[in-house]
Amino acid sequence: DWTMEHVVEMEVEKIREQVGDRKVLCALSGGVDSSVVAALIHKAIGDQLTCIFVDHGLLRKGEADDVMRTLGEGFHMNIIKVDAQERFLSKLEGVSDPEQKRKIIGNEFIYVFDDEADKLKDIDFLAQGTLYTDIIESGTETAQTIKSHHNVGGLPEKMQFDLIEPLNTLFKDEVRALGTELGVPEHIVWRQPFPGPGLAIRVLGEITEEKLAIVRESDYILREEIKKAGLDRDIWQYFTVLPNFRSVGVMGDMRTYDYTIGIRAVTSIDGMTSDWARIPWEILEKISNRLVNEVDHINRVVYDVTSKPPSTIEWE
Ligand code: XMP
Repeated sequence: DWTMEHVVEMEVEKIREQVGDRKVLCALSGGVDSSVVAALIHKAIGDQLTCIFVDHGLLRKGEADDVMRTLGEGFHMNIIKVDAQERFLSKLEGVSDPEQKRKIIGNEFIYVFDDEADKLKDIDFLAQGTLYTDIIESGTETAQTIKSHHNVGGLPEKMQFDLIEPLNTLFKDEVRALGTELGVPEHIVWRQPFPGPGLAIRVLGEITEEKLAIVRESDYILREEIKKAGLDRDIWQYFTVLPNFRSVGVMGDMRTYDYTIGIRAVTSIDGMTSDWARIPWEILEKISNRLVNEVDHINRVVYDVTSKPPSTIEWE
C-alpha cells in the first residue's frame, strides 16, 4: 500500500531528525500500540532504541516469550525484560479490592520501570504509543493505561525525557495498517485489548498463584477455540474470569467442591459500551468441555450474557 509506505518513510525521517544520534527508551507492553511504536522507531534509529518490557506475572500464557521472540529476536530489538513477578505478587498479597489492586500494580510498574531506566545512560527521549483518540478523549482505557503506566507525569521528576509520540495523529485502524506495513506479525497487530493490571483483575478478590494458573490456563484454551472457530476478529474481547467461590459437582464417582469459571466475550466498537457475543452453542460446548477436563479445579462453566451498561466488560 503506497500510502502507508509513504507514512512510514515520513515518520522515519521525522524521528531521525528529532533524535539525531541520541537515545530513546520505550515501555513495551506487547500490545498493538507500543509494539508498533517500537517497530517504527527501531526502523528509524535501530540500536539507539532500548525497550523495557516488565513481566509482572499477570500476563497471559505465552505472552512474555512471544514478545521477546517476535520483537526481540524477530526484529533484533534491544529489549530489557524485567522479571518482576515476585515483586508484584508480594505487593498484591492479601489485597482483594479491585481499585487497590490497580493502584498497587500501576505504582509498582513505575518503580520497576524507573529502576531499570536508572541503570541506562544518556537517554534523552521516551517513546509512547499515544493515539489520536487518547488525546481527544482522555477518559478511555488506553489513555488510562498510558497515564498510569508510562506517562511522564507519572514518572519520578528526576526522569527528564522528551516525548516521542509518532502515533498521536492516527486512529487504531491506521496503527494496525502501519504495523502491518512495518512487518509486525498479525497476531500482535490484531491483538485484543488487554488491561494493564492483566490477570489480577480477572481473579476476583485475593490473588493466589493457584488462582492465577486457573485463569491463565482457561484463558489460553478459550483463545485457542475462538481462533479455531474463526471468531477472533469479530469479538472485541474474550477472556475468562475466576469468581471467588466454589460449588459442588461430580466427576466420575467423586463429589467435587471446586471453582466456577466465567467466560466473558463481548462485541464493541470502542469498549465504552458492549454487547455479549452470540458465540454458537456448539463452540461454547466445546470450550466448556475442555475447561473442565483440562484445567484443574474447575467443575463449572458459566457464560456472561450481560451487556455494558449495566455491566462492565471486566468483572473487577
Ligand atoms: P470495563 O471493564 O470498564 O472495561 O468495561 C473497558 C475496557 O477497559 C479495559 N480496562 C482496563 N484497561 N487498565 C487498563 O489498561 C485497567 O485498569 C482497566 N480496566 C478495564 C477493559 O479490558 C476493556 O477493554
